Amino acid sequence: MAMIKVENLVKTYQVIQKESGLFGYFKNLVKPKYKEFDAVKGINFSIEEGELVGYIGENGAGKSTTIKMLTGLLTPTSGEVIVNNLKPYKSRIENNKNIGAVFGQKTQLWWDLPVIESFRLIKKMYKIPEGEYRKNLKKFTEILELDELLEKQVKNLSLGQKMRCEIAAAFLHNPKIVYLDEPTIGLDVFVKENIRKFIKEINKEKNVTVILTTHDLKDIEDVCDRIILLDKGQIIYDGSKQKFKDTYGKYVIAEFTVKDKNLNINDNIRIDEIEILEETENQLKLKFKHEETTIVKVMEQISNYCKIEDIHMKEAELEDILKEIYKGAHKC
Ligand SMILES: Nc1ncnc2c1ncn2[C@@H]1O[C@H](COP(=O)(O)OP(=O)(O)OP(=O)(O)O)[C@@H](O)[C@H]1O
Ligand SMILES: [Mg+2]
Repeated sequence: MAMIKVENLVKTYQVIQKESGLFGYFKNLVKPKYKEFDAVKGINFSIEEGELVGYIGENGAGKSTTIKMLTGLLTPTSGEVIVNNLKPYKSRIENNKNIGAVFGQKTQLWWDLPVIESFRLIKKMYKIPEGEYRKNLKKFTEILELDELLEKQVKNLSLGQKMRCEIAAAFLHNPKIVYLDEPTIGLDVFVKENIRKFIKEINKEKNVTVILTTHDLKDIEDVCDRIILLDKGQIIYDGSKQKFKDTYGKYVIAEFTVKDKNLNINDNIRIDEIEILEETENQLKLKFKHEETTIVKVMEQISNYCKIEDIHMKEAELEDILKEIYKGAHKC
C-alpha cells in the first residue's frame, strides 16, 4: 500500500484577466474579470513508505501547489490525493499528525519565544511522549548543531540557524511523511550539508518518507534516490535518479586549456560528435557523447588547431542535464 497516492490531480487557480491601459486598470479594480489557470494538470504518482523523492522543476512548474494539496492546505480542483489512507483536504487534523512540513519562506515556530519553548509547544500539541521527545531533541541537537540556539528567540536567529530549527521542529513528532519545500534556499554550503545529513540519517533510522523540492540540485544528488520532474504542471519524468542520469546524461564535458590557437575552432571546424560550448583565447569547453567518440579522438581533433596544455573532464551532473531539458534539448 502506497504512502502517498496521487491520481489525475488538477489544481486550477482563478486569476484576474489583465486589461490594458489606465481604463482597464480601474475596470479591473472595480469589477475584475477572472480566467482559469491550471497550475497542476492531471498528475499521477505513487510513493512508498521510506522513499526520498526529489520533486523538481522550473519556477512556476507547480511544485508548491502540489505540496500544498498533499499537506491539505489546498483542495484539489479535481482528481485525488491519498496520504496514509487519508484525504488531506478532508481530514486536515488527522493528516497533520502524520506529517511534518517546512516551507522555505514561512516559519512554523513562535517568533517571540525561545526555540526550546516552540519545541515544548510542539511536544504538547502532538502529545509526544517525554522519552521520545528527549531522545529526538538530543539527536537533532547533535546533528543539526542546535546547542547554542535553543535558548535564543526565533526572531533573533539567522536564516541558516532558523532553518535548522524549523527542520528539527518538522521531524520532532516522528511524522511518517515530511514535506520540505525549498529548505536550503539562501543557506551557506555548511548548513546545506548539515541539513542533507540530517534528512538522510532520520530517513535511515525512522524510515520516514520525504518529499523535497529544491533548486539546488546538489540537495537531490546527495539526498534523493528518485526524481519527479514537473514541467508546466505536468510530470515529464518519474523514476530513479540513476536511470535519469543514464538516459539523459550520456555525455562528458571536457574543458581544455589551450595555447597557440591558429584558428577559431567554433567558427572553423564542424566535428559531428562534438558540441563546442564555450571558446576563448585559452579555454575551450566542449561536450561529447561516450557512445559516439572517445577523449583520445577528441584530443586528436583539437590538437590540429592548438596546443593542449591541460584538460579537465566531468560526467554530466543533474544540473547540466536539467539545463538541457529546460532548454528543450531533450524530450523526456
Ligand atoms: N494562489 C494562486 N493564485 C493564482 N495563481 C497561483 C497561485 N499560487 C500559485 N499560482 C501560480 O501557479 C503556478 C505554479 O506555482 P507554484 O508556486 O506551485 O510553482 P513552483 O513550482 O513551486 O515554483 P517555484 O520553484 O518558483 O517555487 C505559477 O504560475 C504561479 O504563479
Ligand atoms: Mg515553490
